[in-house]
Amino acid sequence: MSTNNSNHTRFKAVIFDLDGVITDTAHYHYLAWKRTADSIGAPFDEAFNEQLKGVDRMGSLRLILARAPRSFSEEEQLALADAKNRHYQELIATMTPRDLLPGALEALEAVRAAGLRIGLASVSKNAFTVLDRLGIRDRFDDVVDAATIRNSKPHPEIFLTAAEHLGVAPADCLGVEDAAAGVAAIKDAGMVAVGVGSPDVLHRADRVIRSMEEFDLSAY
Ligand code: BG6
Ligand code: MG
Repeated sequence: MSTNNSNHTRFKAVIFDLDGVITDTAHYHYLAWKRTADSIGAPFDEAFNEQLKGVDRMGSLRLILARAPRSFSEEEQLALADAKNRHYQELIATMTPRDLLPGALEALEAVRAAGLRIGLASVSKNAFTVLDRLGIRDRFDDVVDAATIRNSKPHPEIFLTAAEHLGVAPADCLGVEDAAAGVAAIKDAGMVAVGVGSPDVLHRADRVIRSMEEFDLSAY
């Protein structure tokens, strides 16, 4: 349903997730966690990985360890998280602007052209590195620093923080997410949610698109 105003949108800001929305780092997180899980004999597949998307590093590790054949000391847990992160950082080290997902840059440009504010809400502590490798950090009016966030998605904190930084009321924000936890965070922040991926996974989203190529600001 499109609106009649000249900008063709009722929103004042769009807040994007990064991993799996702007670029396919969700797959790199998957590969790195799979290696961790395999090394400790914990079952791991794409379906289980859906539960990790949008969840911060230690939260993801806890979900994996809950299925492991033995328990791990705090020291061992920190070592596992650190090894995963080093592997992940190796995987993202060769990224270039060509790793933007199809439609992502066009979406950022469309939001900018409509005169809206643009935020980034990723719980990844590697988000600034990824944005720099993609060459798009300056396209965002605000990038929330994950190190300042106490509650990972599905808690709405990171989306509320982004809206506050942008000076826009949550009800005037559109959030874009590929993770079920992220969509829940957007909805619980009182925003409209567009999910990128499968409607079966992202059932709380107001609208689901298969890829960012279908992103349409005037569709709400
Ligand atoms: C999220 C990803 O964006 O960032 C999760 O969806 C990841 O898979 C989380 O675990 C934390 O990332 P990092 O880079 O801080 O380990
Ligand atoms: Mg994501």
